[in-house]
Amino acid sequence: MGAPKMTQDNSSNATPGTESASGDLFNTAAGWVLFAAGLGLGLSILSGKFFHGDKPERPETMGYAIEVADEGGGAAEMTFAEALSLVTPEDGEKVFAKCAACHTIEQGGAAGVGPNLYGVMGTTIGTHAAGYAYSPALASKGGTWGFDEMNEWLNNPRGYVDGTKMGFAGLSSIEDRAAVTLYMNSMGSNLPVPEFVPEVAEVEAVAEGDVEAVEEAEQDAAAEVSEETEAAEAAE
Ligand code: HEC
Repeated sequence: MGAPKMTQDNSSNATPGTESASGDLFNTAAGWVLFAAGLGLGLSILSGKFFHGDKPERPETMGYAIEVADEGGGAAEMTFAEALSLVTPEDGEKVFAKCAACHTIEQGGAAGVGPNLYGVMGTTIGTHAAGYAYSPALASKGGTWGFDEMNEWLNNPRGYVDGTKMGFAGLSSIEDRAAVTLYMNSMGSNLPVPEFVPEVAEVEAVAEGDVEAVEEAEQDAAAEVSEETEAAEAAE
């Protein structure tokens, strides 16, 4: 039994160089193929991660908009504070083209069909343009032009002030109303703009709650350990 085995061993020993060399060659080639494949895969994952080749910024924005729609039961029910957070006074300057037929807004601008609107935000409704003949309805409305009042007025002037002589149907887009209100505010008023607190804050609050829960759990665990240590020490 021993002898044939020795023979086989001898024969394999007789050609170690050849077999080993071809084996190494094969392994090296296979290694490079695997390496290349791995490199390719890695690069495609990396490029996907960093460049979003298939999905650029846009879907993230759309996802956010859908979130808003879900929360309010419809995009039209976005709060005015949120609309204000989405637009700029510059947007509003463009919207104001719809108002310019009847209103000037520069400081000291002349009255047209409607009163000059410089600094109107924050003033008592129907009073701020000295010498302008307001309708009795607007002049007796009372209250102050804040952001919410202006939103309601611009949404439906005749609905907000029954009997007003402002012959304007209103702006149906809440973002247009927000933008033009920001623009008016930037022209001589500068009231503090209502702060929009996005849902992210709530998410963070929940996360903070979790952190507290985790901390409590950790403290409990530490208390248990020290109790055990004390018990062990007492036993000694
Ligand atoms: C067709 C003319 C016309 C257009 C267009 C118009 N307004 Fe007026 N606006 C008036 C008139 C007239 C009054 C005075 C109403 C009254 O006395 O009842 C008025 C009053 C106002 C007031 C109240 C001013 C105050 O001193 O209380 C505001 C604010 C206002 N308009 C904003 C706007 C904005 C913003 C737009 C554009 C989105 C606009 N208006 C478009 C004619 C117009």
